[in-house]
Amino acid sequence: MPTALITGITGQDGTYLAEHLLSLDYRVHGLIRGQANPKRQLIETLLPDVHIVEGDLLDQTSLINAIQRVEPDEIYNLAAVSFVPVSWNQPELTGEVTGLGVLRMLEAIRLVEGASASRPARNARIRFYQASSSEMFGKVAVTPQNEQTPFYPRSPYGVAKVYGHYITVNYRESYGIFACSGILFNHESPRRGPEFVTRKISRAAARIKLGKQKELVLGNLDARRDWGFAGDYVRAMHLMLQQPEPDDYVVGTGEAHQVREFIDLAFRHVGLNWQDYVRSDSQFSRPAEVDHLTADATKARQKLGWQPTVSFEELVQMMVEADLKAETGGR
Ligand code: NAP
Ligand code: GDD
Repeated sequence: MPTALITGITGQDGTYLAEHLLSLDYRVHGLIRGQANPKRQLIETLLPDVHIVEGDLLDQTSLINAIQRVEPDEIYNLAAVSFVPVSWNQPELTGEVTGLGVLRMLEAIRLVEGASASRPARNARIRFYQASSSEMFGKVAVTPQNEQTPFYPRSPYGVAKVYGHYITVNYRESYGIFACSGILFNHESPRRGPEFVTRKISRAAARIKLGKQKELVLGNLDARRDWGFAGDYVRAMHLMLQQPEPDDYVVGTGEAHQVREFIDLAFRHVGLNWQDYVRSDSQFSRPAEVDHLTADATKARQKLGWQPTVSFEELVQMMVEADLKAETGGR
């Protein structure tokens, strides 16, 4: 039975990945931070088969201890300060967790495997996945973006992810660690945090329909993203670690849509005209915006055999339906 350690287990992707690995008969451990993390109970209820291990990406020793205790075959590093606007308010914390946290994970692997510059980890057992991001492309040089597209991050979060990406590549090249970086485009689900735009919209559409909310205030409605379903994207993470050689992969649908298209579909799904309820306010604008992201996931399709199964329209409907159910006490 293979063993996996997931950091960021309490996040959107952590729960989907844990479910996927459990369905493949993995023994799954999830790293949880804090002495009384309120999301611990959520994991214990939603994923009773996941073993919880304590640790924090800010604490090197805790990561070494976690790896020594769990003895994983695969590590998925999903933990991060992941909400882009927070990264302008807390740039140092973002750099520490989202950037240097990756280094701490890799150092923990290097130390546990006994690898050094003169003794690479040739028979290394642990395979490492780093959750890189399309935010690294930022002010894009070309459209669509693939593994060769240069990075031009536009937020402290994006800058930290670029560090995480290159330190992953560097530990692979320096120490022979089986380290992969998945450059994932936006992926959403009913489990998406309510601060992200898709969930903010699906939740508002449901609440406005039910008379629980009067209006929805957003920022830039013109931004375009390549939105997919998180449940599809965690399959790509796992596939990367099953390949004969470690490598980096772009993962996305290849289709971009404007924020206003997401709004339009969500409100139409509940029989409302969005123009009657939605307004834009500069309080939700960003100091530097990423206008347009579209994935060229040819490599993931060809080498991993990966493809998405949920369309943009299906994703919007799935999220609005889930929020309607949640708002009427059905979840
Ligand atoms: P998420 O829902 O925001 O989850 C983030 C996770 O990181 C949470 O479990 C959080 O734990 C954990 N975390 C934060 N600080 C930590 C620390 N100091 N030590 C240990 N854990 C810590 O994010 P997600 O959407 O699942 O995304 C997963 C990863 O993929 C992230 O690295 C994100 O940047 C990246 N990514 C996401 C997308 C996307 O569209 N979703 C696209 C590209 C890349 P708490 O519950 O304790 O806060
Ligand atoms: N959150 C939010 N709230 N975004 C808004 C709003 C609003 O009220 N109004 C407009 N937007 C626009 C943002 O300006 C951005 O252009 C777009 O909607 C998407 O914003 P988010 O949903 O917050 O996601 P993100 O693209 O910034 O970041 C997500 O995807 C990245 C991958 O590209 C996060 O999951 C990151 O962690 C991830 O790396």
